Amino acid sequence: MCEEKHWESDQLRRYDLDLKQIPRLRYNDPKVDELIGQNKPVVITDSNIIKTAQENWTPEYLEHNLGNVGHNVFLSKTHKFKYFDRTKMLSRSNPQGIDFVPPTKETKLKIGEFMKKLKEWKPGNDRLYLQQPLNDTVGPSLVRDFVRFDWEYVGQKQNKHNWGPLTSNLLLISQEGNVTPCHYDEQQNFFGQVYGYKRCILFPPSDFECLYPHPVHHPHDRQSMVDFDCPDYTRFPKFKNAKGFETVLKPGDVLYIPIYWWHHVESLMKGGPTISVNFWYKGGPTSLEYPLKDHQKIAITRNVEKMLLEVLQDPREVGPLLRSMVMGRYTE
Ligand code: OGA
Ligand code: FE
Repeated sequence: MCEEKHWESDQLRRYDLDLKQIPRLRYNDPKVDELIGQNKPVVITDSNIIKTAQENWTPEYLEHNLGNVGHNVFLSKTHKFKYFDRTKMLSRSNPQGIDFVPPTKETKLKIGEFMKKLKEWKPGNDRLYLQQPLNDTVGPSLVRDFVRFDWEYVGQKQNKHNWGPLTSNLLLISQEGNVTPCHYDEQQNFFGQVYGYKRCILFPPSDFECLYPHPVHHPHDRQSMVDFDCPDYTRFPKFKNAKGFETVLKPGDVLYIPIYWWHHVESLMKGGPTISVNFWYKGGPTSLEYPLKDHQKIAITRNVEKMLLEVLQDPREVGPLLRSMVMGRYTE
């Protein structure tokens, strides 16, 4: 089968990466469950998962139907919107936090204000990215579309693969060309593309060493330290060995992003705004069966880092202790 292509390669940002394609499978293909069962990414096509959104949620519809209250909007001076955790920043209530200047600003905008800024945007202005959990603030029309998602299909996947409860659905309205830099989440994710085109680049948990995550106590916890636009190979030599997979999502596609898989997401350049909605699920209960899975080793690493901070109290002491523990003893 040959699918029509609605975008050009000059709409993709260029990176020094060698990427394979993520498989695209029809929703009822038995291989979908095979891949999800192996914690591997797959693009689910032709499903009704987010059909009601795909049919209705254009920028104009959201402008008129999204609740008339402030929604969470990030502002960035660059095309990158690197997430950060405020609670890990130095402040009066957190004297052990990290001295850190946030790369983006967070504000609340009503949808009308947000859309006006998008339409009137010109180079030099802050870029905008609305990221709002779907809750009772989104208004009755969106709630009606939301309850008509194919909950039977997603619920069946959730049960079959022993995921925990659904924790949230994030609505993302992005300006063209915006990038969510590479990070991993501690949740299973069905990432639904509603409007416009998004390119997703994924890396397996086994690429942990190649992507150099910030320390766990850093506000950029779970984010890669590597700047894909300009990788510093002196600091991050193993980035060359990262084995990535990519896909360009079109409206109606749902990408399974497995828990602990790294992902970089970009709205295509010159493609207009994009709209997505994700489904975040808690991971299932994990049994300690050997050999351990790569993501279980990441969870262990995270816990060791957290434990050290708890006993050392000062995040600046974590690195030196780890170094003296390993250098010359386990380095060979
Ligand atoms: C996610 C995610 C980023 C984006 O859904 O986990 O990282 O820009 N999304 O869509
Ligand atoms: Fe994410």
